[in-house]
Amino acid sequence: MESTLAAEVGDWLLSRTGGSGGARSTTTLMGMRWDVLPGVWKPNPGTRLFTSWLPLTDGTRFLEVGCAAGVTCVVAARSGCARVVGLDVVPAATENTRRNAARHGVAGRVEALTSDLFAGLDPGDEFDLICSNPPLVRAPDSRQYATQIERSVFDPGYTLHRRFFQEVRPHLADGGRIYMLTSETLGDPEGLRSLAADAGFSNRVYRSEEIGIPVALMGSPPAAAAAADEQGVVHVDFTMFEFQRY
Ligand SMILES: C[S@@+](CC[C@H](N)C(=O)[O-])C[C@H]1O[C@@H](n2cnc3c(N)ncnc32)[C@H](O)[C@@H]1O
Repeated sequence: MESTLAAEVGDWLLSRTGGSGGARSTTTLMGMRWDVLPGVWKPNPGTRLFTSWLPLTDGTRFLEVGCAAGVTCVVAARSGCARVVGLDVVPAATENTRRNAARHGVAGRVEALTSDLFAGLDPGDEFDLICSNPPLVRAPDSRQYATQIERSVFDPGYTLHRRFFQEVRPHLADGGRIYMLTSETLGDPEGLRSLAADAGFSNRVYRSEEIGIPVALMGSPPAAAAAADEQGVVHVDFTMFEFQRY
């Protein structure tokens, strides 16, 4: 179940980064300019941490689940990964990933597929590194999505996380690693460990960092106001787990 703080921060993130409404826009992250199409999750500090932490090396076969505007796929291609595939359930996101790949000179090296988790892959597709910055907030089972963009923040019943670990195995090469972002503040790292263990994966915390959000910027909702420090800052961690097969 989401905490009230997670719900408040999730709603605020959605209002800030939940796409660009009905208009195309651009944003700057990691010293590069990115197109953002309507209805696509806008690259943000979480994207930067997630992307910069990944161990991207020459020759890696790279898969991202939930590629959104394509920042991580573009950086993977520019880092020398041998094959780069980005999946997203939102069609505008895969179109957005193709545009940003073209903008940054790697159009021929990034494949973007509209896909519910791994459904769009061929059965034999295998990757050395599979990563995801998923919807972090564990929402109540009964939550319905009012808009597509809510799929970027809320995971009702943690169903998407559960399905990820049930379905990822055929696509992870021998010796391959999974990197997934979570958060003590926003998500359910213990639930995540448990889902991964049930599916036969060991885990360790790979990286973690806190970001401070001034509560006034959020409009001072009650749980965030209660959690803020004496400077009026709410501390939100972003934590990357590494998983591998037992
Ligand atoms: C938090 S956003 C992260 C986007 C991007 N990777 C980043 O770091 O900025 C999560 C992404 O997962 C996508 N997503 C949600 N459910 C999905 C599913 N069932 N299959 C594939 N992608 C999904 C959303 O559309 C969204 O683009």
